[in-house]
Amino acid sequence: MATDTTTAQLPIRSIRDFNLKGRRVFLRLDFNVPLSAKAPAGAPNVDRIVEDDSRIQEALPTIKYAIENGAKVIIASHLGRPDGKANPDFSLEPIATHLAGLLKQEVTLADDCVGEGIELLTKGLKNGQVMLLENLRFHADEEENGLEFIQRLAQLADIYITDAFGTAHRKHASTYGLPAALTNKGMGFLIEKELKFLERLLKAPETPFLAVLGGSKVSDKIKTIQSLFKRVSGIAIGGAMAHAFWEVKKIPIPEGAIHPKPADVEAARAILDEAGKRGINIVLPVDTNLGFDIGPKSVQLFCDFLRPGKTIFWNGPLGWFEKPEYAKGTYAIAEFMSKLSALRVVGGGDTVSAIKHSGFASGFDHLSTGGGAVLEYLENEGLPGIDIIKDYSKVPPTETKARYLQDDPSEG
Ligand code: 3PG
Repeated sequence: MATDTTTAQLPIRSIRDFNLKGRRVFLRLDFNVPLSAKAPAGAPNVDRIVEDDSRIQEALPTIKYAIENGAKVIIASHLGRPDGKANPDFSLEPIATHLAGLLKQEVTLADDCVGEGIELLTKGLKNGQVMLLENLRFHADEEENGLEFIQRLAQLADIYITDAFGTAHRKHASTYGLPAALTNKGMGFLIEKELKFLERLLKAPETPFLAVLGGSKVSDKIKTIQSLFKRVSGIAIGGAMAHAFWEVKKIPIPEGAIHPKPADVEAARAILDEAGKRGINIVLPVDTNLGFDIGPKSVQLFCDFLRPGKTIFWNGPLGWFEKPEYAKGTYAIAEFMSKLSALRVVGGGDTVSAIKHSGFASGFDHLSTGGGAVLEYLENEGLPGIDIIKDYSKVPPTETKARYLQDDPSEG
């Protein structure tokens, strides 16, 4: 079983628990990464490159472990939202090239992710060789969790390992239906690491436990905030999200800044009411930079709020950080937080990207590879794509309509 002190309590097998030698190890990873722009219509083609490879880097320990232990490595991922149709704009080709460079070995890109030809190719792999399947979402059945597609994917997997934390909130064929139908299944090192930190937030976090939330809409985060209310003693709110709270408190919103929608104002009102009843401190910005960033007094206020924290969760940039003139507030909080001794966990692609751009990323304990997945984990204390690999000894859930497609759970 998994040996980590936190995840050891979880009934999830780790990749370490399997004998991988000569087996086709199906790695479901989240390689949904930003790529450089494609050439405009009519212009000559350009090679697109991976612009932020954090998710690929984070998956490397699992891929390397599988290679070093003699697996025939079959990697599957989605990229973007091609809506169930093959589309070269969403091909995993740039990712195959990038991964080959990182691994310093050949990575074969299959031209599809299912089919007899692909099955033969997977069987022909030598131990330690790596094949990347083409985008799973070229098939509508991936997002629809279609049974026939699940059965075709199952033909490629002697052992199923998921390390796709960023996609574990999706009940898709490769993240949910497939592991539901398999008995040889487990997690890789990235999911193990993500769970180790998120479980520390959920189970007996050291107090004071404080949160910083930003981004645009309160209504998107209301469930996360309700879940945080059970655990935190205070939340600092920045970004355009704060404007809904100002509206409730009748604080004027700067001209030109984003005005909240009625649903956001109502959500903010409900949050303030609930916080009042529970005695939770809600800290709002007191000044802004033209309404697109928190101002210097707010930075000071947020730092004073965070200073005593022993556990801190941060989701959502505090301003429009992509524009250098509005990045100061987010970067100042990143710098301040990087020097604290609290356990600091960050979730959300934009927030992680902002912290990396600030230059203070190495001062944080954990920058999650998940956006929606982190928020749902905190809300529901679990995720479908993780819960489904926990139970490998009973019948598959009836909702998947699948029967077990591997017969011998001890085979691995
Ligand atoms: C993400 O980037 O959040 C994951 O890869 C999931 O992608 P999705 O939101 O398109 O399902």
